[in-house]
Amino acid sequence: MDHADILSEKLRSKSAQVAVVGLGYVGLSLAVGLGKAGIRILGIDVDVERVGLLSNGTSYIGDITDGDIRWLLAEGLLSASATFEGTGQVDAIVICVPTPLRKSKEPDISSIVSAVDSIAPTLRKGQLVVLESTTYPGTTEEVLQSRFEGLGFTLGRDLFLAFSPERVDPGNRTFTSANIPKVVGGVTATCTALAAALYSIVTSKVHRVSNPRVAETAKLLENTFRSVNIALANELALACRAIDVDPWEVIDAAATKPFGFMPFYPGPGTGGHCIPLDPLYLSWRVRMNGFEPRFIALADEINRSMPRHVVTTISDALNERGQCLRDAQVLVLGVTYKRDVNDVRESPALEIIKILIEKGVRISYSDPFTPQLDLGDQKIASTPLTADLLGTSDCVVVVTDHSSFDYPLIARAARLVVDVRNALRVIPDHREHIVTL
Ligand SMILES: NC(=O)c1ccc[n+]([C@@H]2O[C@H](COP(=O)([O-])OP(=O)(O)OC[C@H]3O[C@@H](n4cnc5c(N)ncnc54)[C@H](O)[C@@H]3O)[C@@H](O)[C@H]2O)c1
Repeated sequence: MDHADILSEKLRSKSAQVAVVGLGYVGLSLAVGLGKAGIRILGIDVDVERVGLLSNGTSYIGDITDGDIRWLLAEGLLSASATFEGTGQVDAIVICVPTPLRKSKEPDISSIVSAVDSIAPTLRKGQLVVLESTTYPGTTEEVLQSRFEGLGFTLGRDLFLAFSPERVDPGNRTFTSANIPKVVGGVTATCTALAAALYSIVTSKVHRVSNPRVAETAKLLENTFRSVNIALANELALACRAIDVDPWEVIDAAATKPFGFMPFYPGPGTGGHCIPLDPLYLSWRVRMNGFEPRFIALADEINRSMPRHVVTTISDALNERGQCLRDAQVLVLGVTYKRDVNDVRESPALEIIKILIEKGVRISYSDPFTPQLDLGDQKIASTPLTADLLGTSDCVVVVTDHSSFDYPLIARAARLVVDVRNALRVIPDHREHIVTL
């Protein structure tokens, strides 16, 4: 049997051991999924605190319970490590490290490079390496393949390499890793087949593409599609304001068309680790080849202008009531980047709060998912949402529409609500003091 046959048989019989490098939202979810399917997982993270928590049976990711971790530990299916010592023994290595943007908005793939540096010394014949981190087209071939070939491996024969983007939607109970199809593109057909065999253990459908660049670009298209359509909805909201039409009613009417339309809604801007970042990975890469994509830049500009637009809406609403923004008491409801998750990364709420503070506003916030908010130069704590708090605030701003908020109470007790998600749409009363985008 050759290396591919041996690995294929190990994956089929689930006797393969897999290292997951980077145990965040993506990596820990994959590690738990594979572990529950009976695969032995070596979880590696440079964050010693995270490794300590996992080793003690504690999850730090909302969608994963302590019970899941404890069960995997007890069954001997998971071990967590802050070093790369064990990677030489495993059969497959999946890299799920962060890929942020630099301040200059250029891709920062330093964590990928560092992870590759760490696995390279113990890489051995017969292993499969899969990159899952979202990145610009060409990364798998230019950064990983060339490095591995430089070590003397022949990809597709004695070492296998593929890219497979993660599509997890935190907080989504309908679509999970188990039923979201996985796109896989290997540097050779054998690499694709082996990576597909790995993912078939945890997902019902694997879609194979001809090379890693297609898989890398597909991921960026998915998030560019969302960014552009959210920007369109945001622009529609501003346009509708000019003609006194309710944009949400327009979108709901258009959404009754059973084909050719998909509803996206206006809001305070995009957040999270994907939509505000990923399209810029694509534009950066194609710009290097002389092509300037315009949709991506325009969508980015519109979405990033929304926090300032929210502040203008608050200021205008206060002004109409004879109040000014400076010294106003503003209560922000919801600071995470989307409903019912505990993630504040890139959340537009942070930008809104920052601008409000700069303008001399007295800020408080309430968010059941975020007990404390780190604003860089200061930390503020979440306040319990009470009728008293609502009634004493000059303006209440619904930035993130968590399902646990008591919207009838908000409508009843607040003096002025700026509802940028239209979360109070179903409440017919008190409309005179509710303002939308
Ligand atoms: N969060 C999502 O919903 C989501 C969805 C799809 C794709 N992605 C992509 O998946 C990748 C990972 O995202 P995430 O949200 O899981 O990130 P995360 O920040 O939650 O977790 C990444 C983990 O990697 C660790 N890490 C950093 N450098 C490392 C290294 N050199 N070696 C080992 N560990 C290292 C960090 O300590 C952290 O625990 C990113 O490219 C992201 O764009 C994320």
